[in-house]
Amino acid sequence: MTFEISPHMKELLIHNMENTVSHIQDVLKLTDPGMQKVNAHLRKQLNSEVILINQIGEYIINNGGKRLRPILMLLITEALNYQGDQNINLASVIELIHTATLLHDDVVDESEMRRGEKTSHEIWGNSASVLVGDFLYSKSFQMMVKADNMTVMSILSDATNKISEGEVQQLLNVGNLDLSEEAYYQIIANKTAKLFEAACQLAAVISQQDTNLQTTMAEFGMLLGTAFQIADDILDYTASDDDLGKNLGDDFYEGKLTMPLIYLLKNGNDSQRSHIINAIKNPQQADFSLIKHLVVESNAIKYTLSQAQHKANQAKTKLESLIDSTFKEALIFLCDYAWQRNQ
Ligand code: IPE
Ligand code: IPE
Ligand code: MG
Ligand code: MG
Repeated sequence: MTFEISPHMKELLIHNMENTVSHIQDVLKLTDPGMQKVNAHLRKQLNSEVILINQIGEYIINNGGKRLRPILMLLITEALNYQGDQNINLASVIELIHTATLLHDDVVDESEMRRGEKTSHEIWGNSASVLVGDFLYSKSFQMMVKADNMTVMSILSDATNKISEGEVQQLLNVGNLDLSEEAYYQIIANKTAKLFEAACQLAAVISQQDTNLQTTMAEFGMLLGTAFQIADDILDYTASDDDLGKNLGDDFYEGKLTMPLIYLLKNGNDSQRSHIINAIKNPQQADFSLIKHLVVESNAIKYTLSQAQHKANQAKTKLESLIDSTFKEALIFLCDYAWQRNQ
């Protein structure tokens, strides 16, 4: 009896023998061929006769960003042996949606730094940022139509709608000292994790997996995206500005209560609580280094990290449905990266 090994399986075995994924650079190397195509596709799509669109579009896209969402789409489609080219288009769509939300979000949050550079609205103003954000959104819809698949359209239009809902929910809760952890989870599920969910679910959909696996990949994305946003909310207190490429304390100064503050308000001692409440009410007079100190001292960071780790570990269990490969290893690695990252 002869044992035939498929070309895909062979490739996976070779990858397995040659590589282990132990650093984010390994993930970037693994996805580099696909990401080069995604970046080329993105650049082409940003082409417009309106100069300002090219300028802002290229500014924000060329300033980099981690490209985590398209990377997830590529890793999952590779792990599922997808053979077409819609993963490149849809990974670009996801990144464009993400970029549009950042343009809008930085206006709303009055943030001055993004990806280590001045935010677009600091250079071109709020109106230009909002309008170019709209251009990117609508461009992403033009691109997703090309997949010619109603399920794809439905997942992406639902995700964009939920992101807006999450951002509005968050706006409504600015300065709300009674925000519960449950409400916080709902907000981050919508504003952030939903797009991760869409990327991962779409990867299974275009790879023509059964609905069970589609759901499992959607759950993976939701859990990973949740861990990722919790970590982002920790980094707003603990990172170095240089690593983060954004200003620290943005959340605090805009009255955004994220998990560290929610924990402190519930579990801190009287002095920690009253200090923080005062500072939230008068953020401009607050001393951020003291706020950071109180947050760390109250164990809020430790607790919040443990929650992020928990979500990331839950995400990992969803990957058990994939056959072993370097791509799967990279996905497992990204679960740890999502909560342990420093940028
Ligand atoms: C920033 O996302 C917004 C959040 C959901 C926290 P990323 O941290 O993925 O941003 P870039 O694309 O790498 O700059
Ligand atoms: C992230 O919002 C989610 C969206 C952009 C929709 P945040 O306001 O928490 O993220 P940063 O800190 O600006 O990247
Ligand atoms: Mg923001
Ligand atoms: Mg925001």
